[in-house]
Amino acid sequence: MTESPAPPHAGDDEALRERALAALLTARERTTLLTDSVDDHDLTAQHSPLMSPLVWDLAHIGNQEELWLLRGVAGREAMRPEIDGLYDAFEHPRATRPSLPLLAPGEARSYASEVRGRALDVLESTPLGDGPALVRSGFAFGMIAQHEQQHDETMLITHQLRSGPAALTAPEPPRAVDAPPAEVLVPGGPFTMGTSAEPWALDNERPAHQRDVPGFVIDTAPVTCGAYRAFIEDGGYGERRWWAPEGWAMVREHELAAPLFWHRDSGQWLRRRFGVTEPVPDDEPVLHVSWYEADAYARWAGRRLPTEAEWEKAARHDPVSGRSRRYPWGDEDPTPERANLGQRHLRPAPAGAYPAGRAPCGAGQLIADVWEWTASDFLPYPGFAPFPYREYSEVFFGPEHKVLRGGSFAVDTVACRGTFRNWDLPVRRQIFSGFRTARDL
Ligand SMILES: [Fe+2]
Repeated sequence: MTESPAPPHAGDDEALRERALAALLTARERTTLLTDSVDDHDLTAQHSPLMSPLVWDLAHIGNQEELWLLRGVAGREAMRPEIDGLYDAFEHPRATRPSLPLLAPGEARSYASEVRGRALDVLESTPLGDGPALVRSGFAFGMIAQHEQQHDETMLITHQLRSGPAALTAPEPPRAVDAPPAEVLVPGGPFTMGTSAEPWALDNERPAHQRDVPGFVIDTAPVTCGAYRAFIEDGGYGERRWWAPEGWAMVREHELAAPLFWHRDSGQWLRRRFGVTEPVPDDEPVLHVSWYEADAYARWAGRRLPTEAEWEKAARHDPVSGRSRRYPWGDEDPTPERANLGQRHLRPAPAGAYPAGRAPCGAGQLIADVWEWTASDFLPYPGFAPFPYREYSEVFFGPEHKVLRGGSFAVDTVACRGTFRNWDLPVRRQIFSGFRTARDL
């Protein structure tokens, strides 16, 4: 049992440089769109206590890039040491950020772009193939591109939470081509989980290791709004027996009756999506549900959430070669035909879309569309070593965070892999979260 070899760009200095440059430029294009599509009032306002003002994200993106690429890789002096504390995510919780003396929108834009100009010079002059661990295979540049894209996803959540007319538009995702079977079998046996070969994988995805996973059955697509509506209409939110005790307490305290952003009008379910109110589409994966809601639905359906290892085995294990792939479809990078990534479409595609993206077991849409809650707590893999800083993952390990897998329509290619791990509190619903279910054989 092994994983696929390192991707073709790994080890080739010029290919790595081009890849890093492309990833940084793609991220900045998206950041610019997300921050230029609203006015200064919207940029500085706090649209939800769960989120930072957009202008904080913008300067924080620049500050992290300065810290890691200019100071870390190139050993330069701080450009504006007085602002470091303002943009340290651990120093100031999100709810308090609007009261800080933040850079104004114009200042934040010019700071981020000045940092970027210098960072591209550093990229040009730094050997990437070898050298210290921080730059080997272009890791620091890949990490910073992923960091910016993760904030672009966070900023898209802020766009979803803001009131007022739509600021963003996008074409519709592709339709479903056929109706695949509802569930597929993943036979029991060991597989390789995690990675030691992917050069830009983050510390929590490492190292590759063997896991024995008994056989199980998993949904071919994420649970749809139509299926979830059946749970609601069967009184799912009113029956204690479907819920974990903390989930039941959350339902009672906040009087939950449906996913976030849904409401009922004259007998019809509607939802608000990026400033537009529309009927809830039955065939689309359900979005904006907490782990507790996913867990309750699964129990109601006589099923359960897959464990993280089951999810990854369904997504990566190739029973013919015995190896774990980089992605469900193989080792090649994502394309628009394989997965709904990069905020290209501002919604999940209907269940059954993207047949070119299916895994060997037959499950589809494992990558992109909606983040999928798993049954598992966020824990380190055997042999985990924090890199390049403890606060990236290690401080979040423990039973309070549940793992989400597979990315969403809001995630970019650079921050999405078969091994990528996301985590959040089980009460969170503003994130682009859905789920699929599984059952024992
Ligand atoms: Fe950050």
